[in-house]
Amino acid sequence: MNLNNKNILITGASRGIGFGVVEKLLKEHNCNIATVSRKIDSLDELFSNARKGDRKFKAYSCDVTEKQSVAETYKNITSDFGEIDIAILNAGVGYLVTPETFNSEFAEKTFAVNFLGVIYFIEQLLPSMIERKSGIIAGVSSLADARGFSGSGFYCASKAALSTYLEGLRIELFSYGIKVITIKPGFVKTDMTDQNNFDMPFLMDIHKSADYIINGIKKEKREIAYPFATAFGSKLIRKLPDTFYEFLAKRFKLG
Ligand SMILES: NC(=O)c1ccc[n+]([C@@H]2O[C@H](COP(=O)([O-])OP(=O)(O)OC[C@H]3O[C@@H](n4cnc5c(N)ncnc54)[C@H](OP(=O)(O)O)[C@@H]3O)[C@@H](O)[C@H]2O)c1
Repeated sequence: MNLNNKNILITGASRGIGFGVVEKLLKEHNCNIATVSRKIDSLDELFSNARKGDRKFKAYSCDVTEKQSVAETYKNITSDFGEIDIAILNAGVGYLVTPETFNSEFAEKTFAVNFLGVIYFIEQLLPSMIERKSGIIAGVSSLADARGFSGSGFYCASKAALSTYLEGLRIELFSYGIKVITIKPGFVKTDMTDQNNFDMPFLMDIHKSADYIINGIKKEKREIAYPFATAFGSKLIRKLPDTFYEFLAKRFKLG
């Protein structure tokens, strides 16, 4: 797919993976870009330095956990841009939670952003995409959806919920010509991973990550799981018998 002249919406673009995607889109594609995040200063700065030509870009401030705010923001976006062709629903949070720091508020916050924050946007996107019988919805899940990893249980569960939901949605939307893409990054160096106190194999920067995401969307892939080694490892770990997975977790002191 050629991204030129497409209206692209991306959430969670103020920093990290989403910011990397916006930077690359601005550099290499003549598409229109609407971004959504709570803070927008970094994007205002990026946009003010970008070559405009005849394309549009605008950053909208919105908390994706507030359903009403999502509906109002979406209305503003479509009034400024017209209908959205590609939505990259990327906003996400992750907290390291141990049995000692256990607090259900972490679960509420994680599911509010990582799962419901995506669902609220899909609710806005679907009616027009169904009517037009076209569109791409790309949800950013994670390779961490494969198993319950120690310290990241709420995060893994939220991403497993998202991946499973997108899998079903993909099938439901076959007959409408709408593509659903599940994006599963491995470790990418961002504010989110800076809090991790464990080894992160094949850690990459946001530019490399953006290459994977944009190339995958152009190819309209069903799943964009990267890098290969981590994606392969996560598929393998998912298939391990539970007892063996627990043995490895104990052996490598992951608990
Ligand atoms: N980094 C990794 O290794 C990795 C691996 C697999 C998957 N992922 C996924 O990739 C996505 C991006 O992660 P990242 O590493 O780039 O994280 P990040 O650097 O912490 O950025 C998170 C983005 O989400 C936005 N966001 C968070 N809460 C929000 C809310 N309530 N409303 C609106 N926007 C909100 C943030 O913007 P504001 O704070 O301005 O609102 C920010 O732009 C997440 O879904 C994450 O789970 C990351």
